[in-house]
Amino acid sequence: MKIILLGPPGAGKGTIAEKLKQEYNIPQISTGDLFRAAIANQTELGKKVKSILDAGELVPDELTIALVQERLSAPDTSNGYILDGFPRTIPQAEALERFDTLDMVIDFRVRDGIIIERLAGRRVCSSCGKVYHIKNMPPQKDGVCDTCGGALYTRTDDNPDSIQQRLKTYREKTEPLIAFYSERKLLKALDGEGSVEVVWERFKKLLGN
Ligand code: AP5
Ligand code: MG
Ligand code: ZN
Repeated sequence: MKIILLGPPGAGKGTIAEKLKQEYNIPQISTGDLFRAAIANQTELGKKVKSILDAGELVPDELTIALVQERLSAPDTSNGYILDGFPRTIPQAEALERFDTLDMVIDFRVRDGIIIERLAGRRVCSSCGKVYHIKNMPPQKDGVCDTCGGALYTRTDDNPDSIQQRLKTYREKTEPLIAFYSERKLLKALDGEGSVEVVWERFKKLLGN
């Protein structure tokens, strides 16, 4: 299965991808995670993109497309993959069409007020990457990952200014992909509001299970 998770920031793409990859045993390819890893490792790419991510703007298409193309050439993608946060522009979607054929695009629908509440409360494990929410999915012990004991941190783009900019960027650059994939009959809308369990059940129905 080759599937795209499309949707605004904080819609729950990463949270659902985590469940999906376990269920289907296919890799989750999150461009945001790849960029954040490059920043943490202080690579050339990381140095180039840090200020872009912090501001809630998009990394240039050429860089993003090259990164994804390279990642998709790895052997673990042979049974399929989950694209989480890519494509995010029409040129990225056109590039993807040139190097692979997708099965489905899931469009997460969540209202802005809920998005803001989700992003403001998100915490991420600095060691294993597990995602929490201080109210909706709190760790057993404040600031500590249940799974690995790592310290939890707040993403540098989860602040009010960056969140507003990410929503604006989404509307301007990414929302046009809804029409793009709808024309290609690949799009399925997912109501992303409600608990993770409720959204996951809806998601599985869309997949036909
Ligand atoms: P990226 O990392 O993709 O960020 P994003 O799109 O803003 O999405 P998020 O990761 O914030 O949200 P999510 O939908 O994964 O939500 P999550 O599951 O964590 O991209 C970051 C940046 O990288 C971009 O701004 C850009 O600069 C750059 N970039 C990335 N891809 C690019 C591309 N293709 N081109 C150019 N630039 C690119 O959930 C959020 C919170 O809500 C969590 O706390 C979670 O616990 C909670 N939650 C989730 N689901 C539920 C639920 N059902 N009920 C209650 N709480 C929930
Ligand atoms: Mg994410
Ligand atoms: Zn952890």
